[in-house]
Amino acid sequence: MSRQSVIRLEDYKPFSHPVSTVHLTFHLDPEATRVRAEIAFGVGTGDLRLDGVDLDLLSATIDGVPVTPICDEDGLTVAAADLPDGPFTWVAETRIDPARNTTLEGLYHRRDLFITQCEAEGFRRITYFPDRPDVMAVYTVRIEGDMPVLLSNGDLTGSGPGWAEWHDPWRKPSYLFALVAGDLRSVEDSFTTMSGRDVTLKIWVRDGDRGRCAYAMDALKRAMKWDEDTYGLEYDLDLFQIVAVDDFNAGAMENKGLNVFNSKYVLASPETATDADFDGVESVIAHEYFHNWTGNRITCRDWFQLSLKEGLTVFRDQCFSADMRSAPVKRIEDVLRLRAGQFREDAGPLAHPVRPESYVEINNFYTATVYEKGAELIRMLREIVGQDAYDAALKLYFERHDGQACTIEDWLSVFQDATGHDLSQFRRWYHQAGTPRLTVEDRFEEGETILTFRQTTPPTPGQPDKQPVPIPIRWGLLDDKGEVANGMFLLSEAEQEVRVKTAARTVPSVLRGFSAPVILEQKGQPGDAGVRLARDTDAFNRWEAGRTLALDVLAGDGDPAPWLDGVCAVLNDQTLDPALRALILSLPTQEGIAQEIALRDETVDPDLVHVRHQSLEEALTSRLGADAMRISRAIRPTGDYSPDGQAPGQRALANRLLSLAARRETDLAREALAQASNMTDRLAALAPLIRAGQAEAELAAFHAEWSGTDLVIDKWFAMQTSLAPAHEALDVAQRLQNHEDFTWTVPNRFRALVGGLISNTAAFHRADGAGYVWLADWLLKVDKRNPMLAARMSAAFETWRRYDEGRQKLILDQLERIASADGLSRDTGEMVGRMRA
Ligand code: ARG
Ligand code: ZN
Repeated sequence: MSRQSVIRLEDYKPFSHPVSTVHLTFHLDPEATRVRAEIAFGVGTGDLRLDGVDLDLLSATIDGVPVTPICDEDGLTVAAADLPDGPFTWVAETRIDPARNTTLEGLYHRRDLFITQCEAEGFRRITYFPDRPDVMAVYTVRIEGDMPVLLSNGDLTGSGPGWAEWHDPWRKPSYLFALVAGDLRSVEDSFTTMSGRDVTLKIWVRDGDRGRCAYAMDALKRAMKWDEDTYGLEYDLDLFQIVAVDDFNAGAMENKGLNVFNSKYVLASPETATDADFDGVESVIAHEYFHNWTGNRITCRDWFQLSLKEGLTVFRDQCFSADMRSAPVKRIEDVLRLRAGQFREDAGPLAHPVRPESYVEINNFYTATVYEKGAELIRMLREIVGQDAYDAALKLYFERHDGQACTIEDWLSVFQDATGHDLSQFRRWYHQAGTPRLTVEDRFEEGETILTFRQTTPPTPGQPDKQPVPIPIRWGLLDDKGEVANGMFLLSEAEQEVRVKTAARTVPSVLRGFSAPVILEQKGQPGDAGVRLARDTDAFNRWEAGRTLALDVLAGDGDPAPWLDGVCAVLNDQTLDPALRALILSLPTQEGIAQEIALRDETVDPDLVHVRHQSLEEALTSRLGADAMRISRAIRPTGDYSPDGQAPGQRALANRLLSLAARRETDLAREALAQASNMTDRLAALAPLIRAGQAEAELAAFHAEWSGTDLVIDKWFAMQTSLAPAHEALDVAQRLQNHEDFTWTVPNRFRALVGGLISNTAAFHRADGAGYVWLADWLLKVDKRNPMLAARMSAAFETWRRYDEGRQKLILDQLERIASADGLSRDTGEMVGRMRA
């Protein structure tokens, strides 16, 4: 069946005909929008094959002469014999039904708004087109519709009641096309670029939401300035617009000059958003803005190259956030995210290279591997060549490839040409899936500390044998006074040594700052991690040492004393950033513990993980005693809320300590809730009450207060399913799914409730399999409306091999039930197929 066919990188061929301009006219109507597309094609060879999905073709002409193309369910073909010899103009009129388009791809109509999402292959749901990123054209758009706001890419060239015309002078692929129309209000500002041009900035939201845009606007201006200062990159239109929408599958989309955002990443105020939400707004705003150069001006030749824009843009947004805040804290947060999403993916049946070689549905490859591991590869390149050479390479990249659709090879060639480094071995990082294991052993001999490094990468689906990859290892050596040496070593073979002259044995601190995305196993001496936790000069490795000690207890049967002693000393170190102290004082998540157990080739027992997690929390609570609340109260910031500077870190530490203290005395949480004046503190105070099953009145009050504020009600759902005691959480979820505010057709709401339950690992992995059946029921239901959303959520099952035979069988039964469902989407079909293979 054509819908299940595999697309392969090796089959890439350029498109048959060049395109120069596209003129689109939209007559907007929720149920019957008409789209007229006029496309100027140049001289080509062979048939003309255009992509098109769910379109009603009303008419088609070539140079004004009607044609009758052969239509099928993926598009249409005009035979070469029916095409003129020279350039020609194709005009087609199609009719589409945005209200019934529940996929949230292409043009869809929700709550009186027309919205588009064209990446990766949504444009083909709007009109017939060569819908691939290497076909670039200049777009002119006319929108007709009875709405106050009619937006598209580029600059506004004309408007009147019921119509607007837009022109985008920059050639772009169809996936960057955007249109938004409806009743929206804007917040306006401006930015003067480094060459002195004034750019108008507009953020469009619903009436009533304008008061929650200030942080997004501020982040946008800081991102624009940062890209000028750091990369010399200037914005290239007179207008930059952002629209916040409530119905969106992804986080946001970088359409040229008209970014469309999930409102979660735009709207923020102290009363409604947490510190983490403010971080999210800042980094997603920056991410989409940075795409203007890394993605839009230089785009991808085909979707196998997705990491060319996503890996680089994630790396850029990570560096931006690190510059805005504490760099070590940001690095720890990024690594937490990498491990939780990417290491997990790399260890299971969905493992794939940063540049995949085949896919059935490209939406299934917007993954942690393409994004987060992709960003790590750029970070390693910078580590290997150095900051100055990195800067030179990026400069050459923009000079050489501006306006082009490129490949990973183009990118690596730029790096080789600009820096003189031979990167042939580095390519393996793009082609090989799986997380390399790095071990380090140390010995002291005749006045030398000798570090022996070894690497292996485990087999992954379709890749049984792996080659060594170049691993940049930042290292240092510690003695009881401090650091005696440090450096960077590039491990390129399976095994290599580093020798350093030292007076006696030292404690190695390796992979500082997480200089490579690998799993490190240290074969040191028993007290080494304690030494690093107490006095490593590298903040990341202090945190990492705490994690190592905690995992010794949580994933094995280590003694809790070294961890307890170490983190309590850190807690009392006033010279340390409170944000860092909060992170060091936190335990790995239950998912993190399960990952570690699986890594040790042991079977994961989710109930045991839960018990161990709880008892270490309990042990820390006992150890701290009254200190927990004393320090919590002392460090909690007072005065007006600010999402920047020291305050978020102070709140994080205060709230971490509150969560410990409230294990014993829930009244402490009630007290904190009564005093909370921002959403961060409120959620932190509610959490212990929900965990204790004592939050009924508080949850009702919360709901009453925030009813109608969607993003806050999302939190209300998520906190209940994610924090409820494991044995009750599924019942809670089943009760909440009948709540009148639970609209499963809105992705944010669905992710809040269902994603919340999945993150409650002991609840989701209930031994009777009820969690699995429940999720499978939901996936089957959602798949019929919104395949992308169902497919994404199905990855909750990717870890099935970790568990006991009973749970494995229960999960496989559900995967099989999904696989055999009638009319299953290509998206979910591919995911389930890969997970069962
Ligand atoms: N390019 C967007 C971003 O990373 C995400 C688009 C998601 N699209 C998808 N089909 N999953 O900023
Ligand atoms: Zn992106």
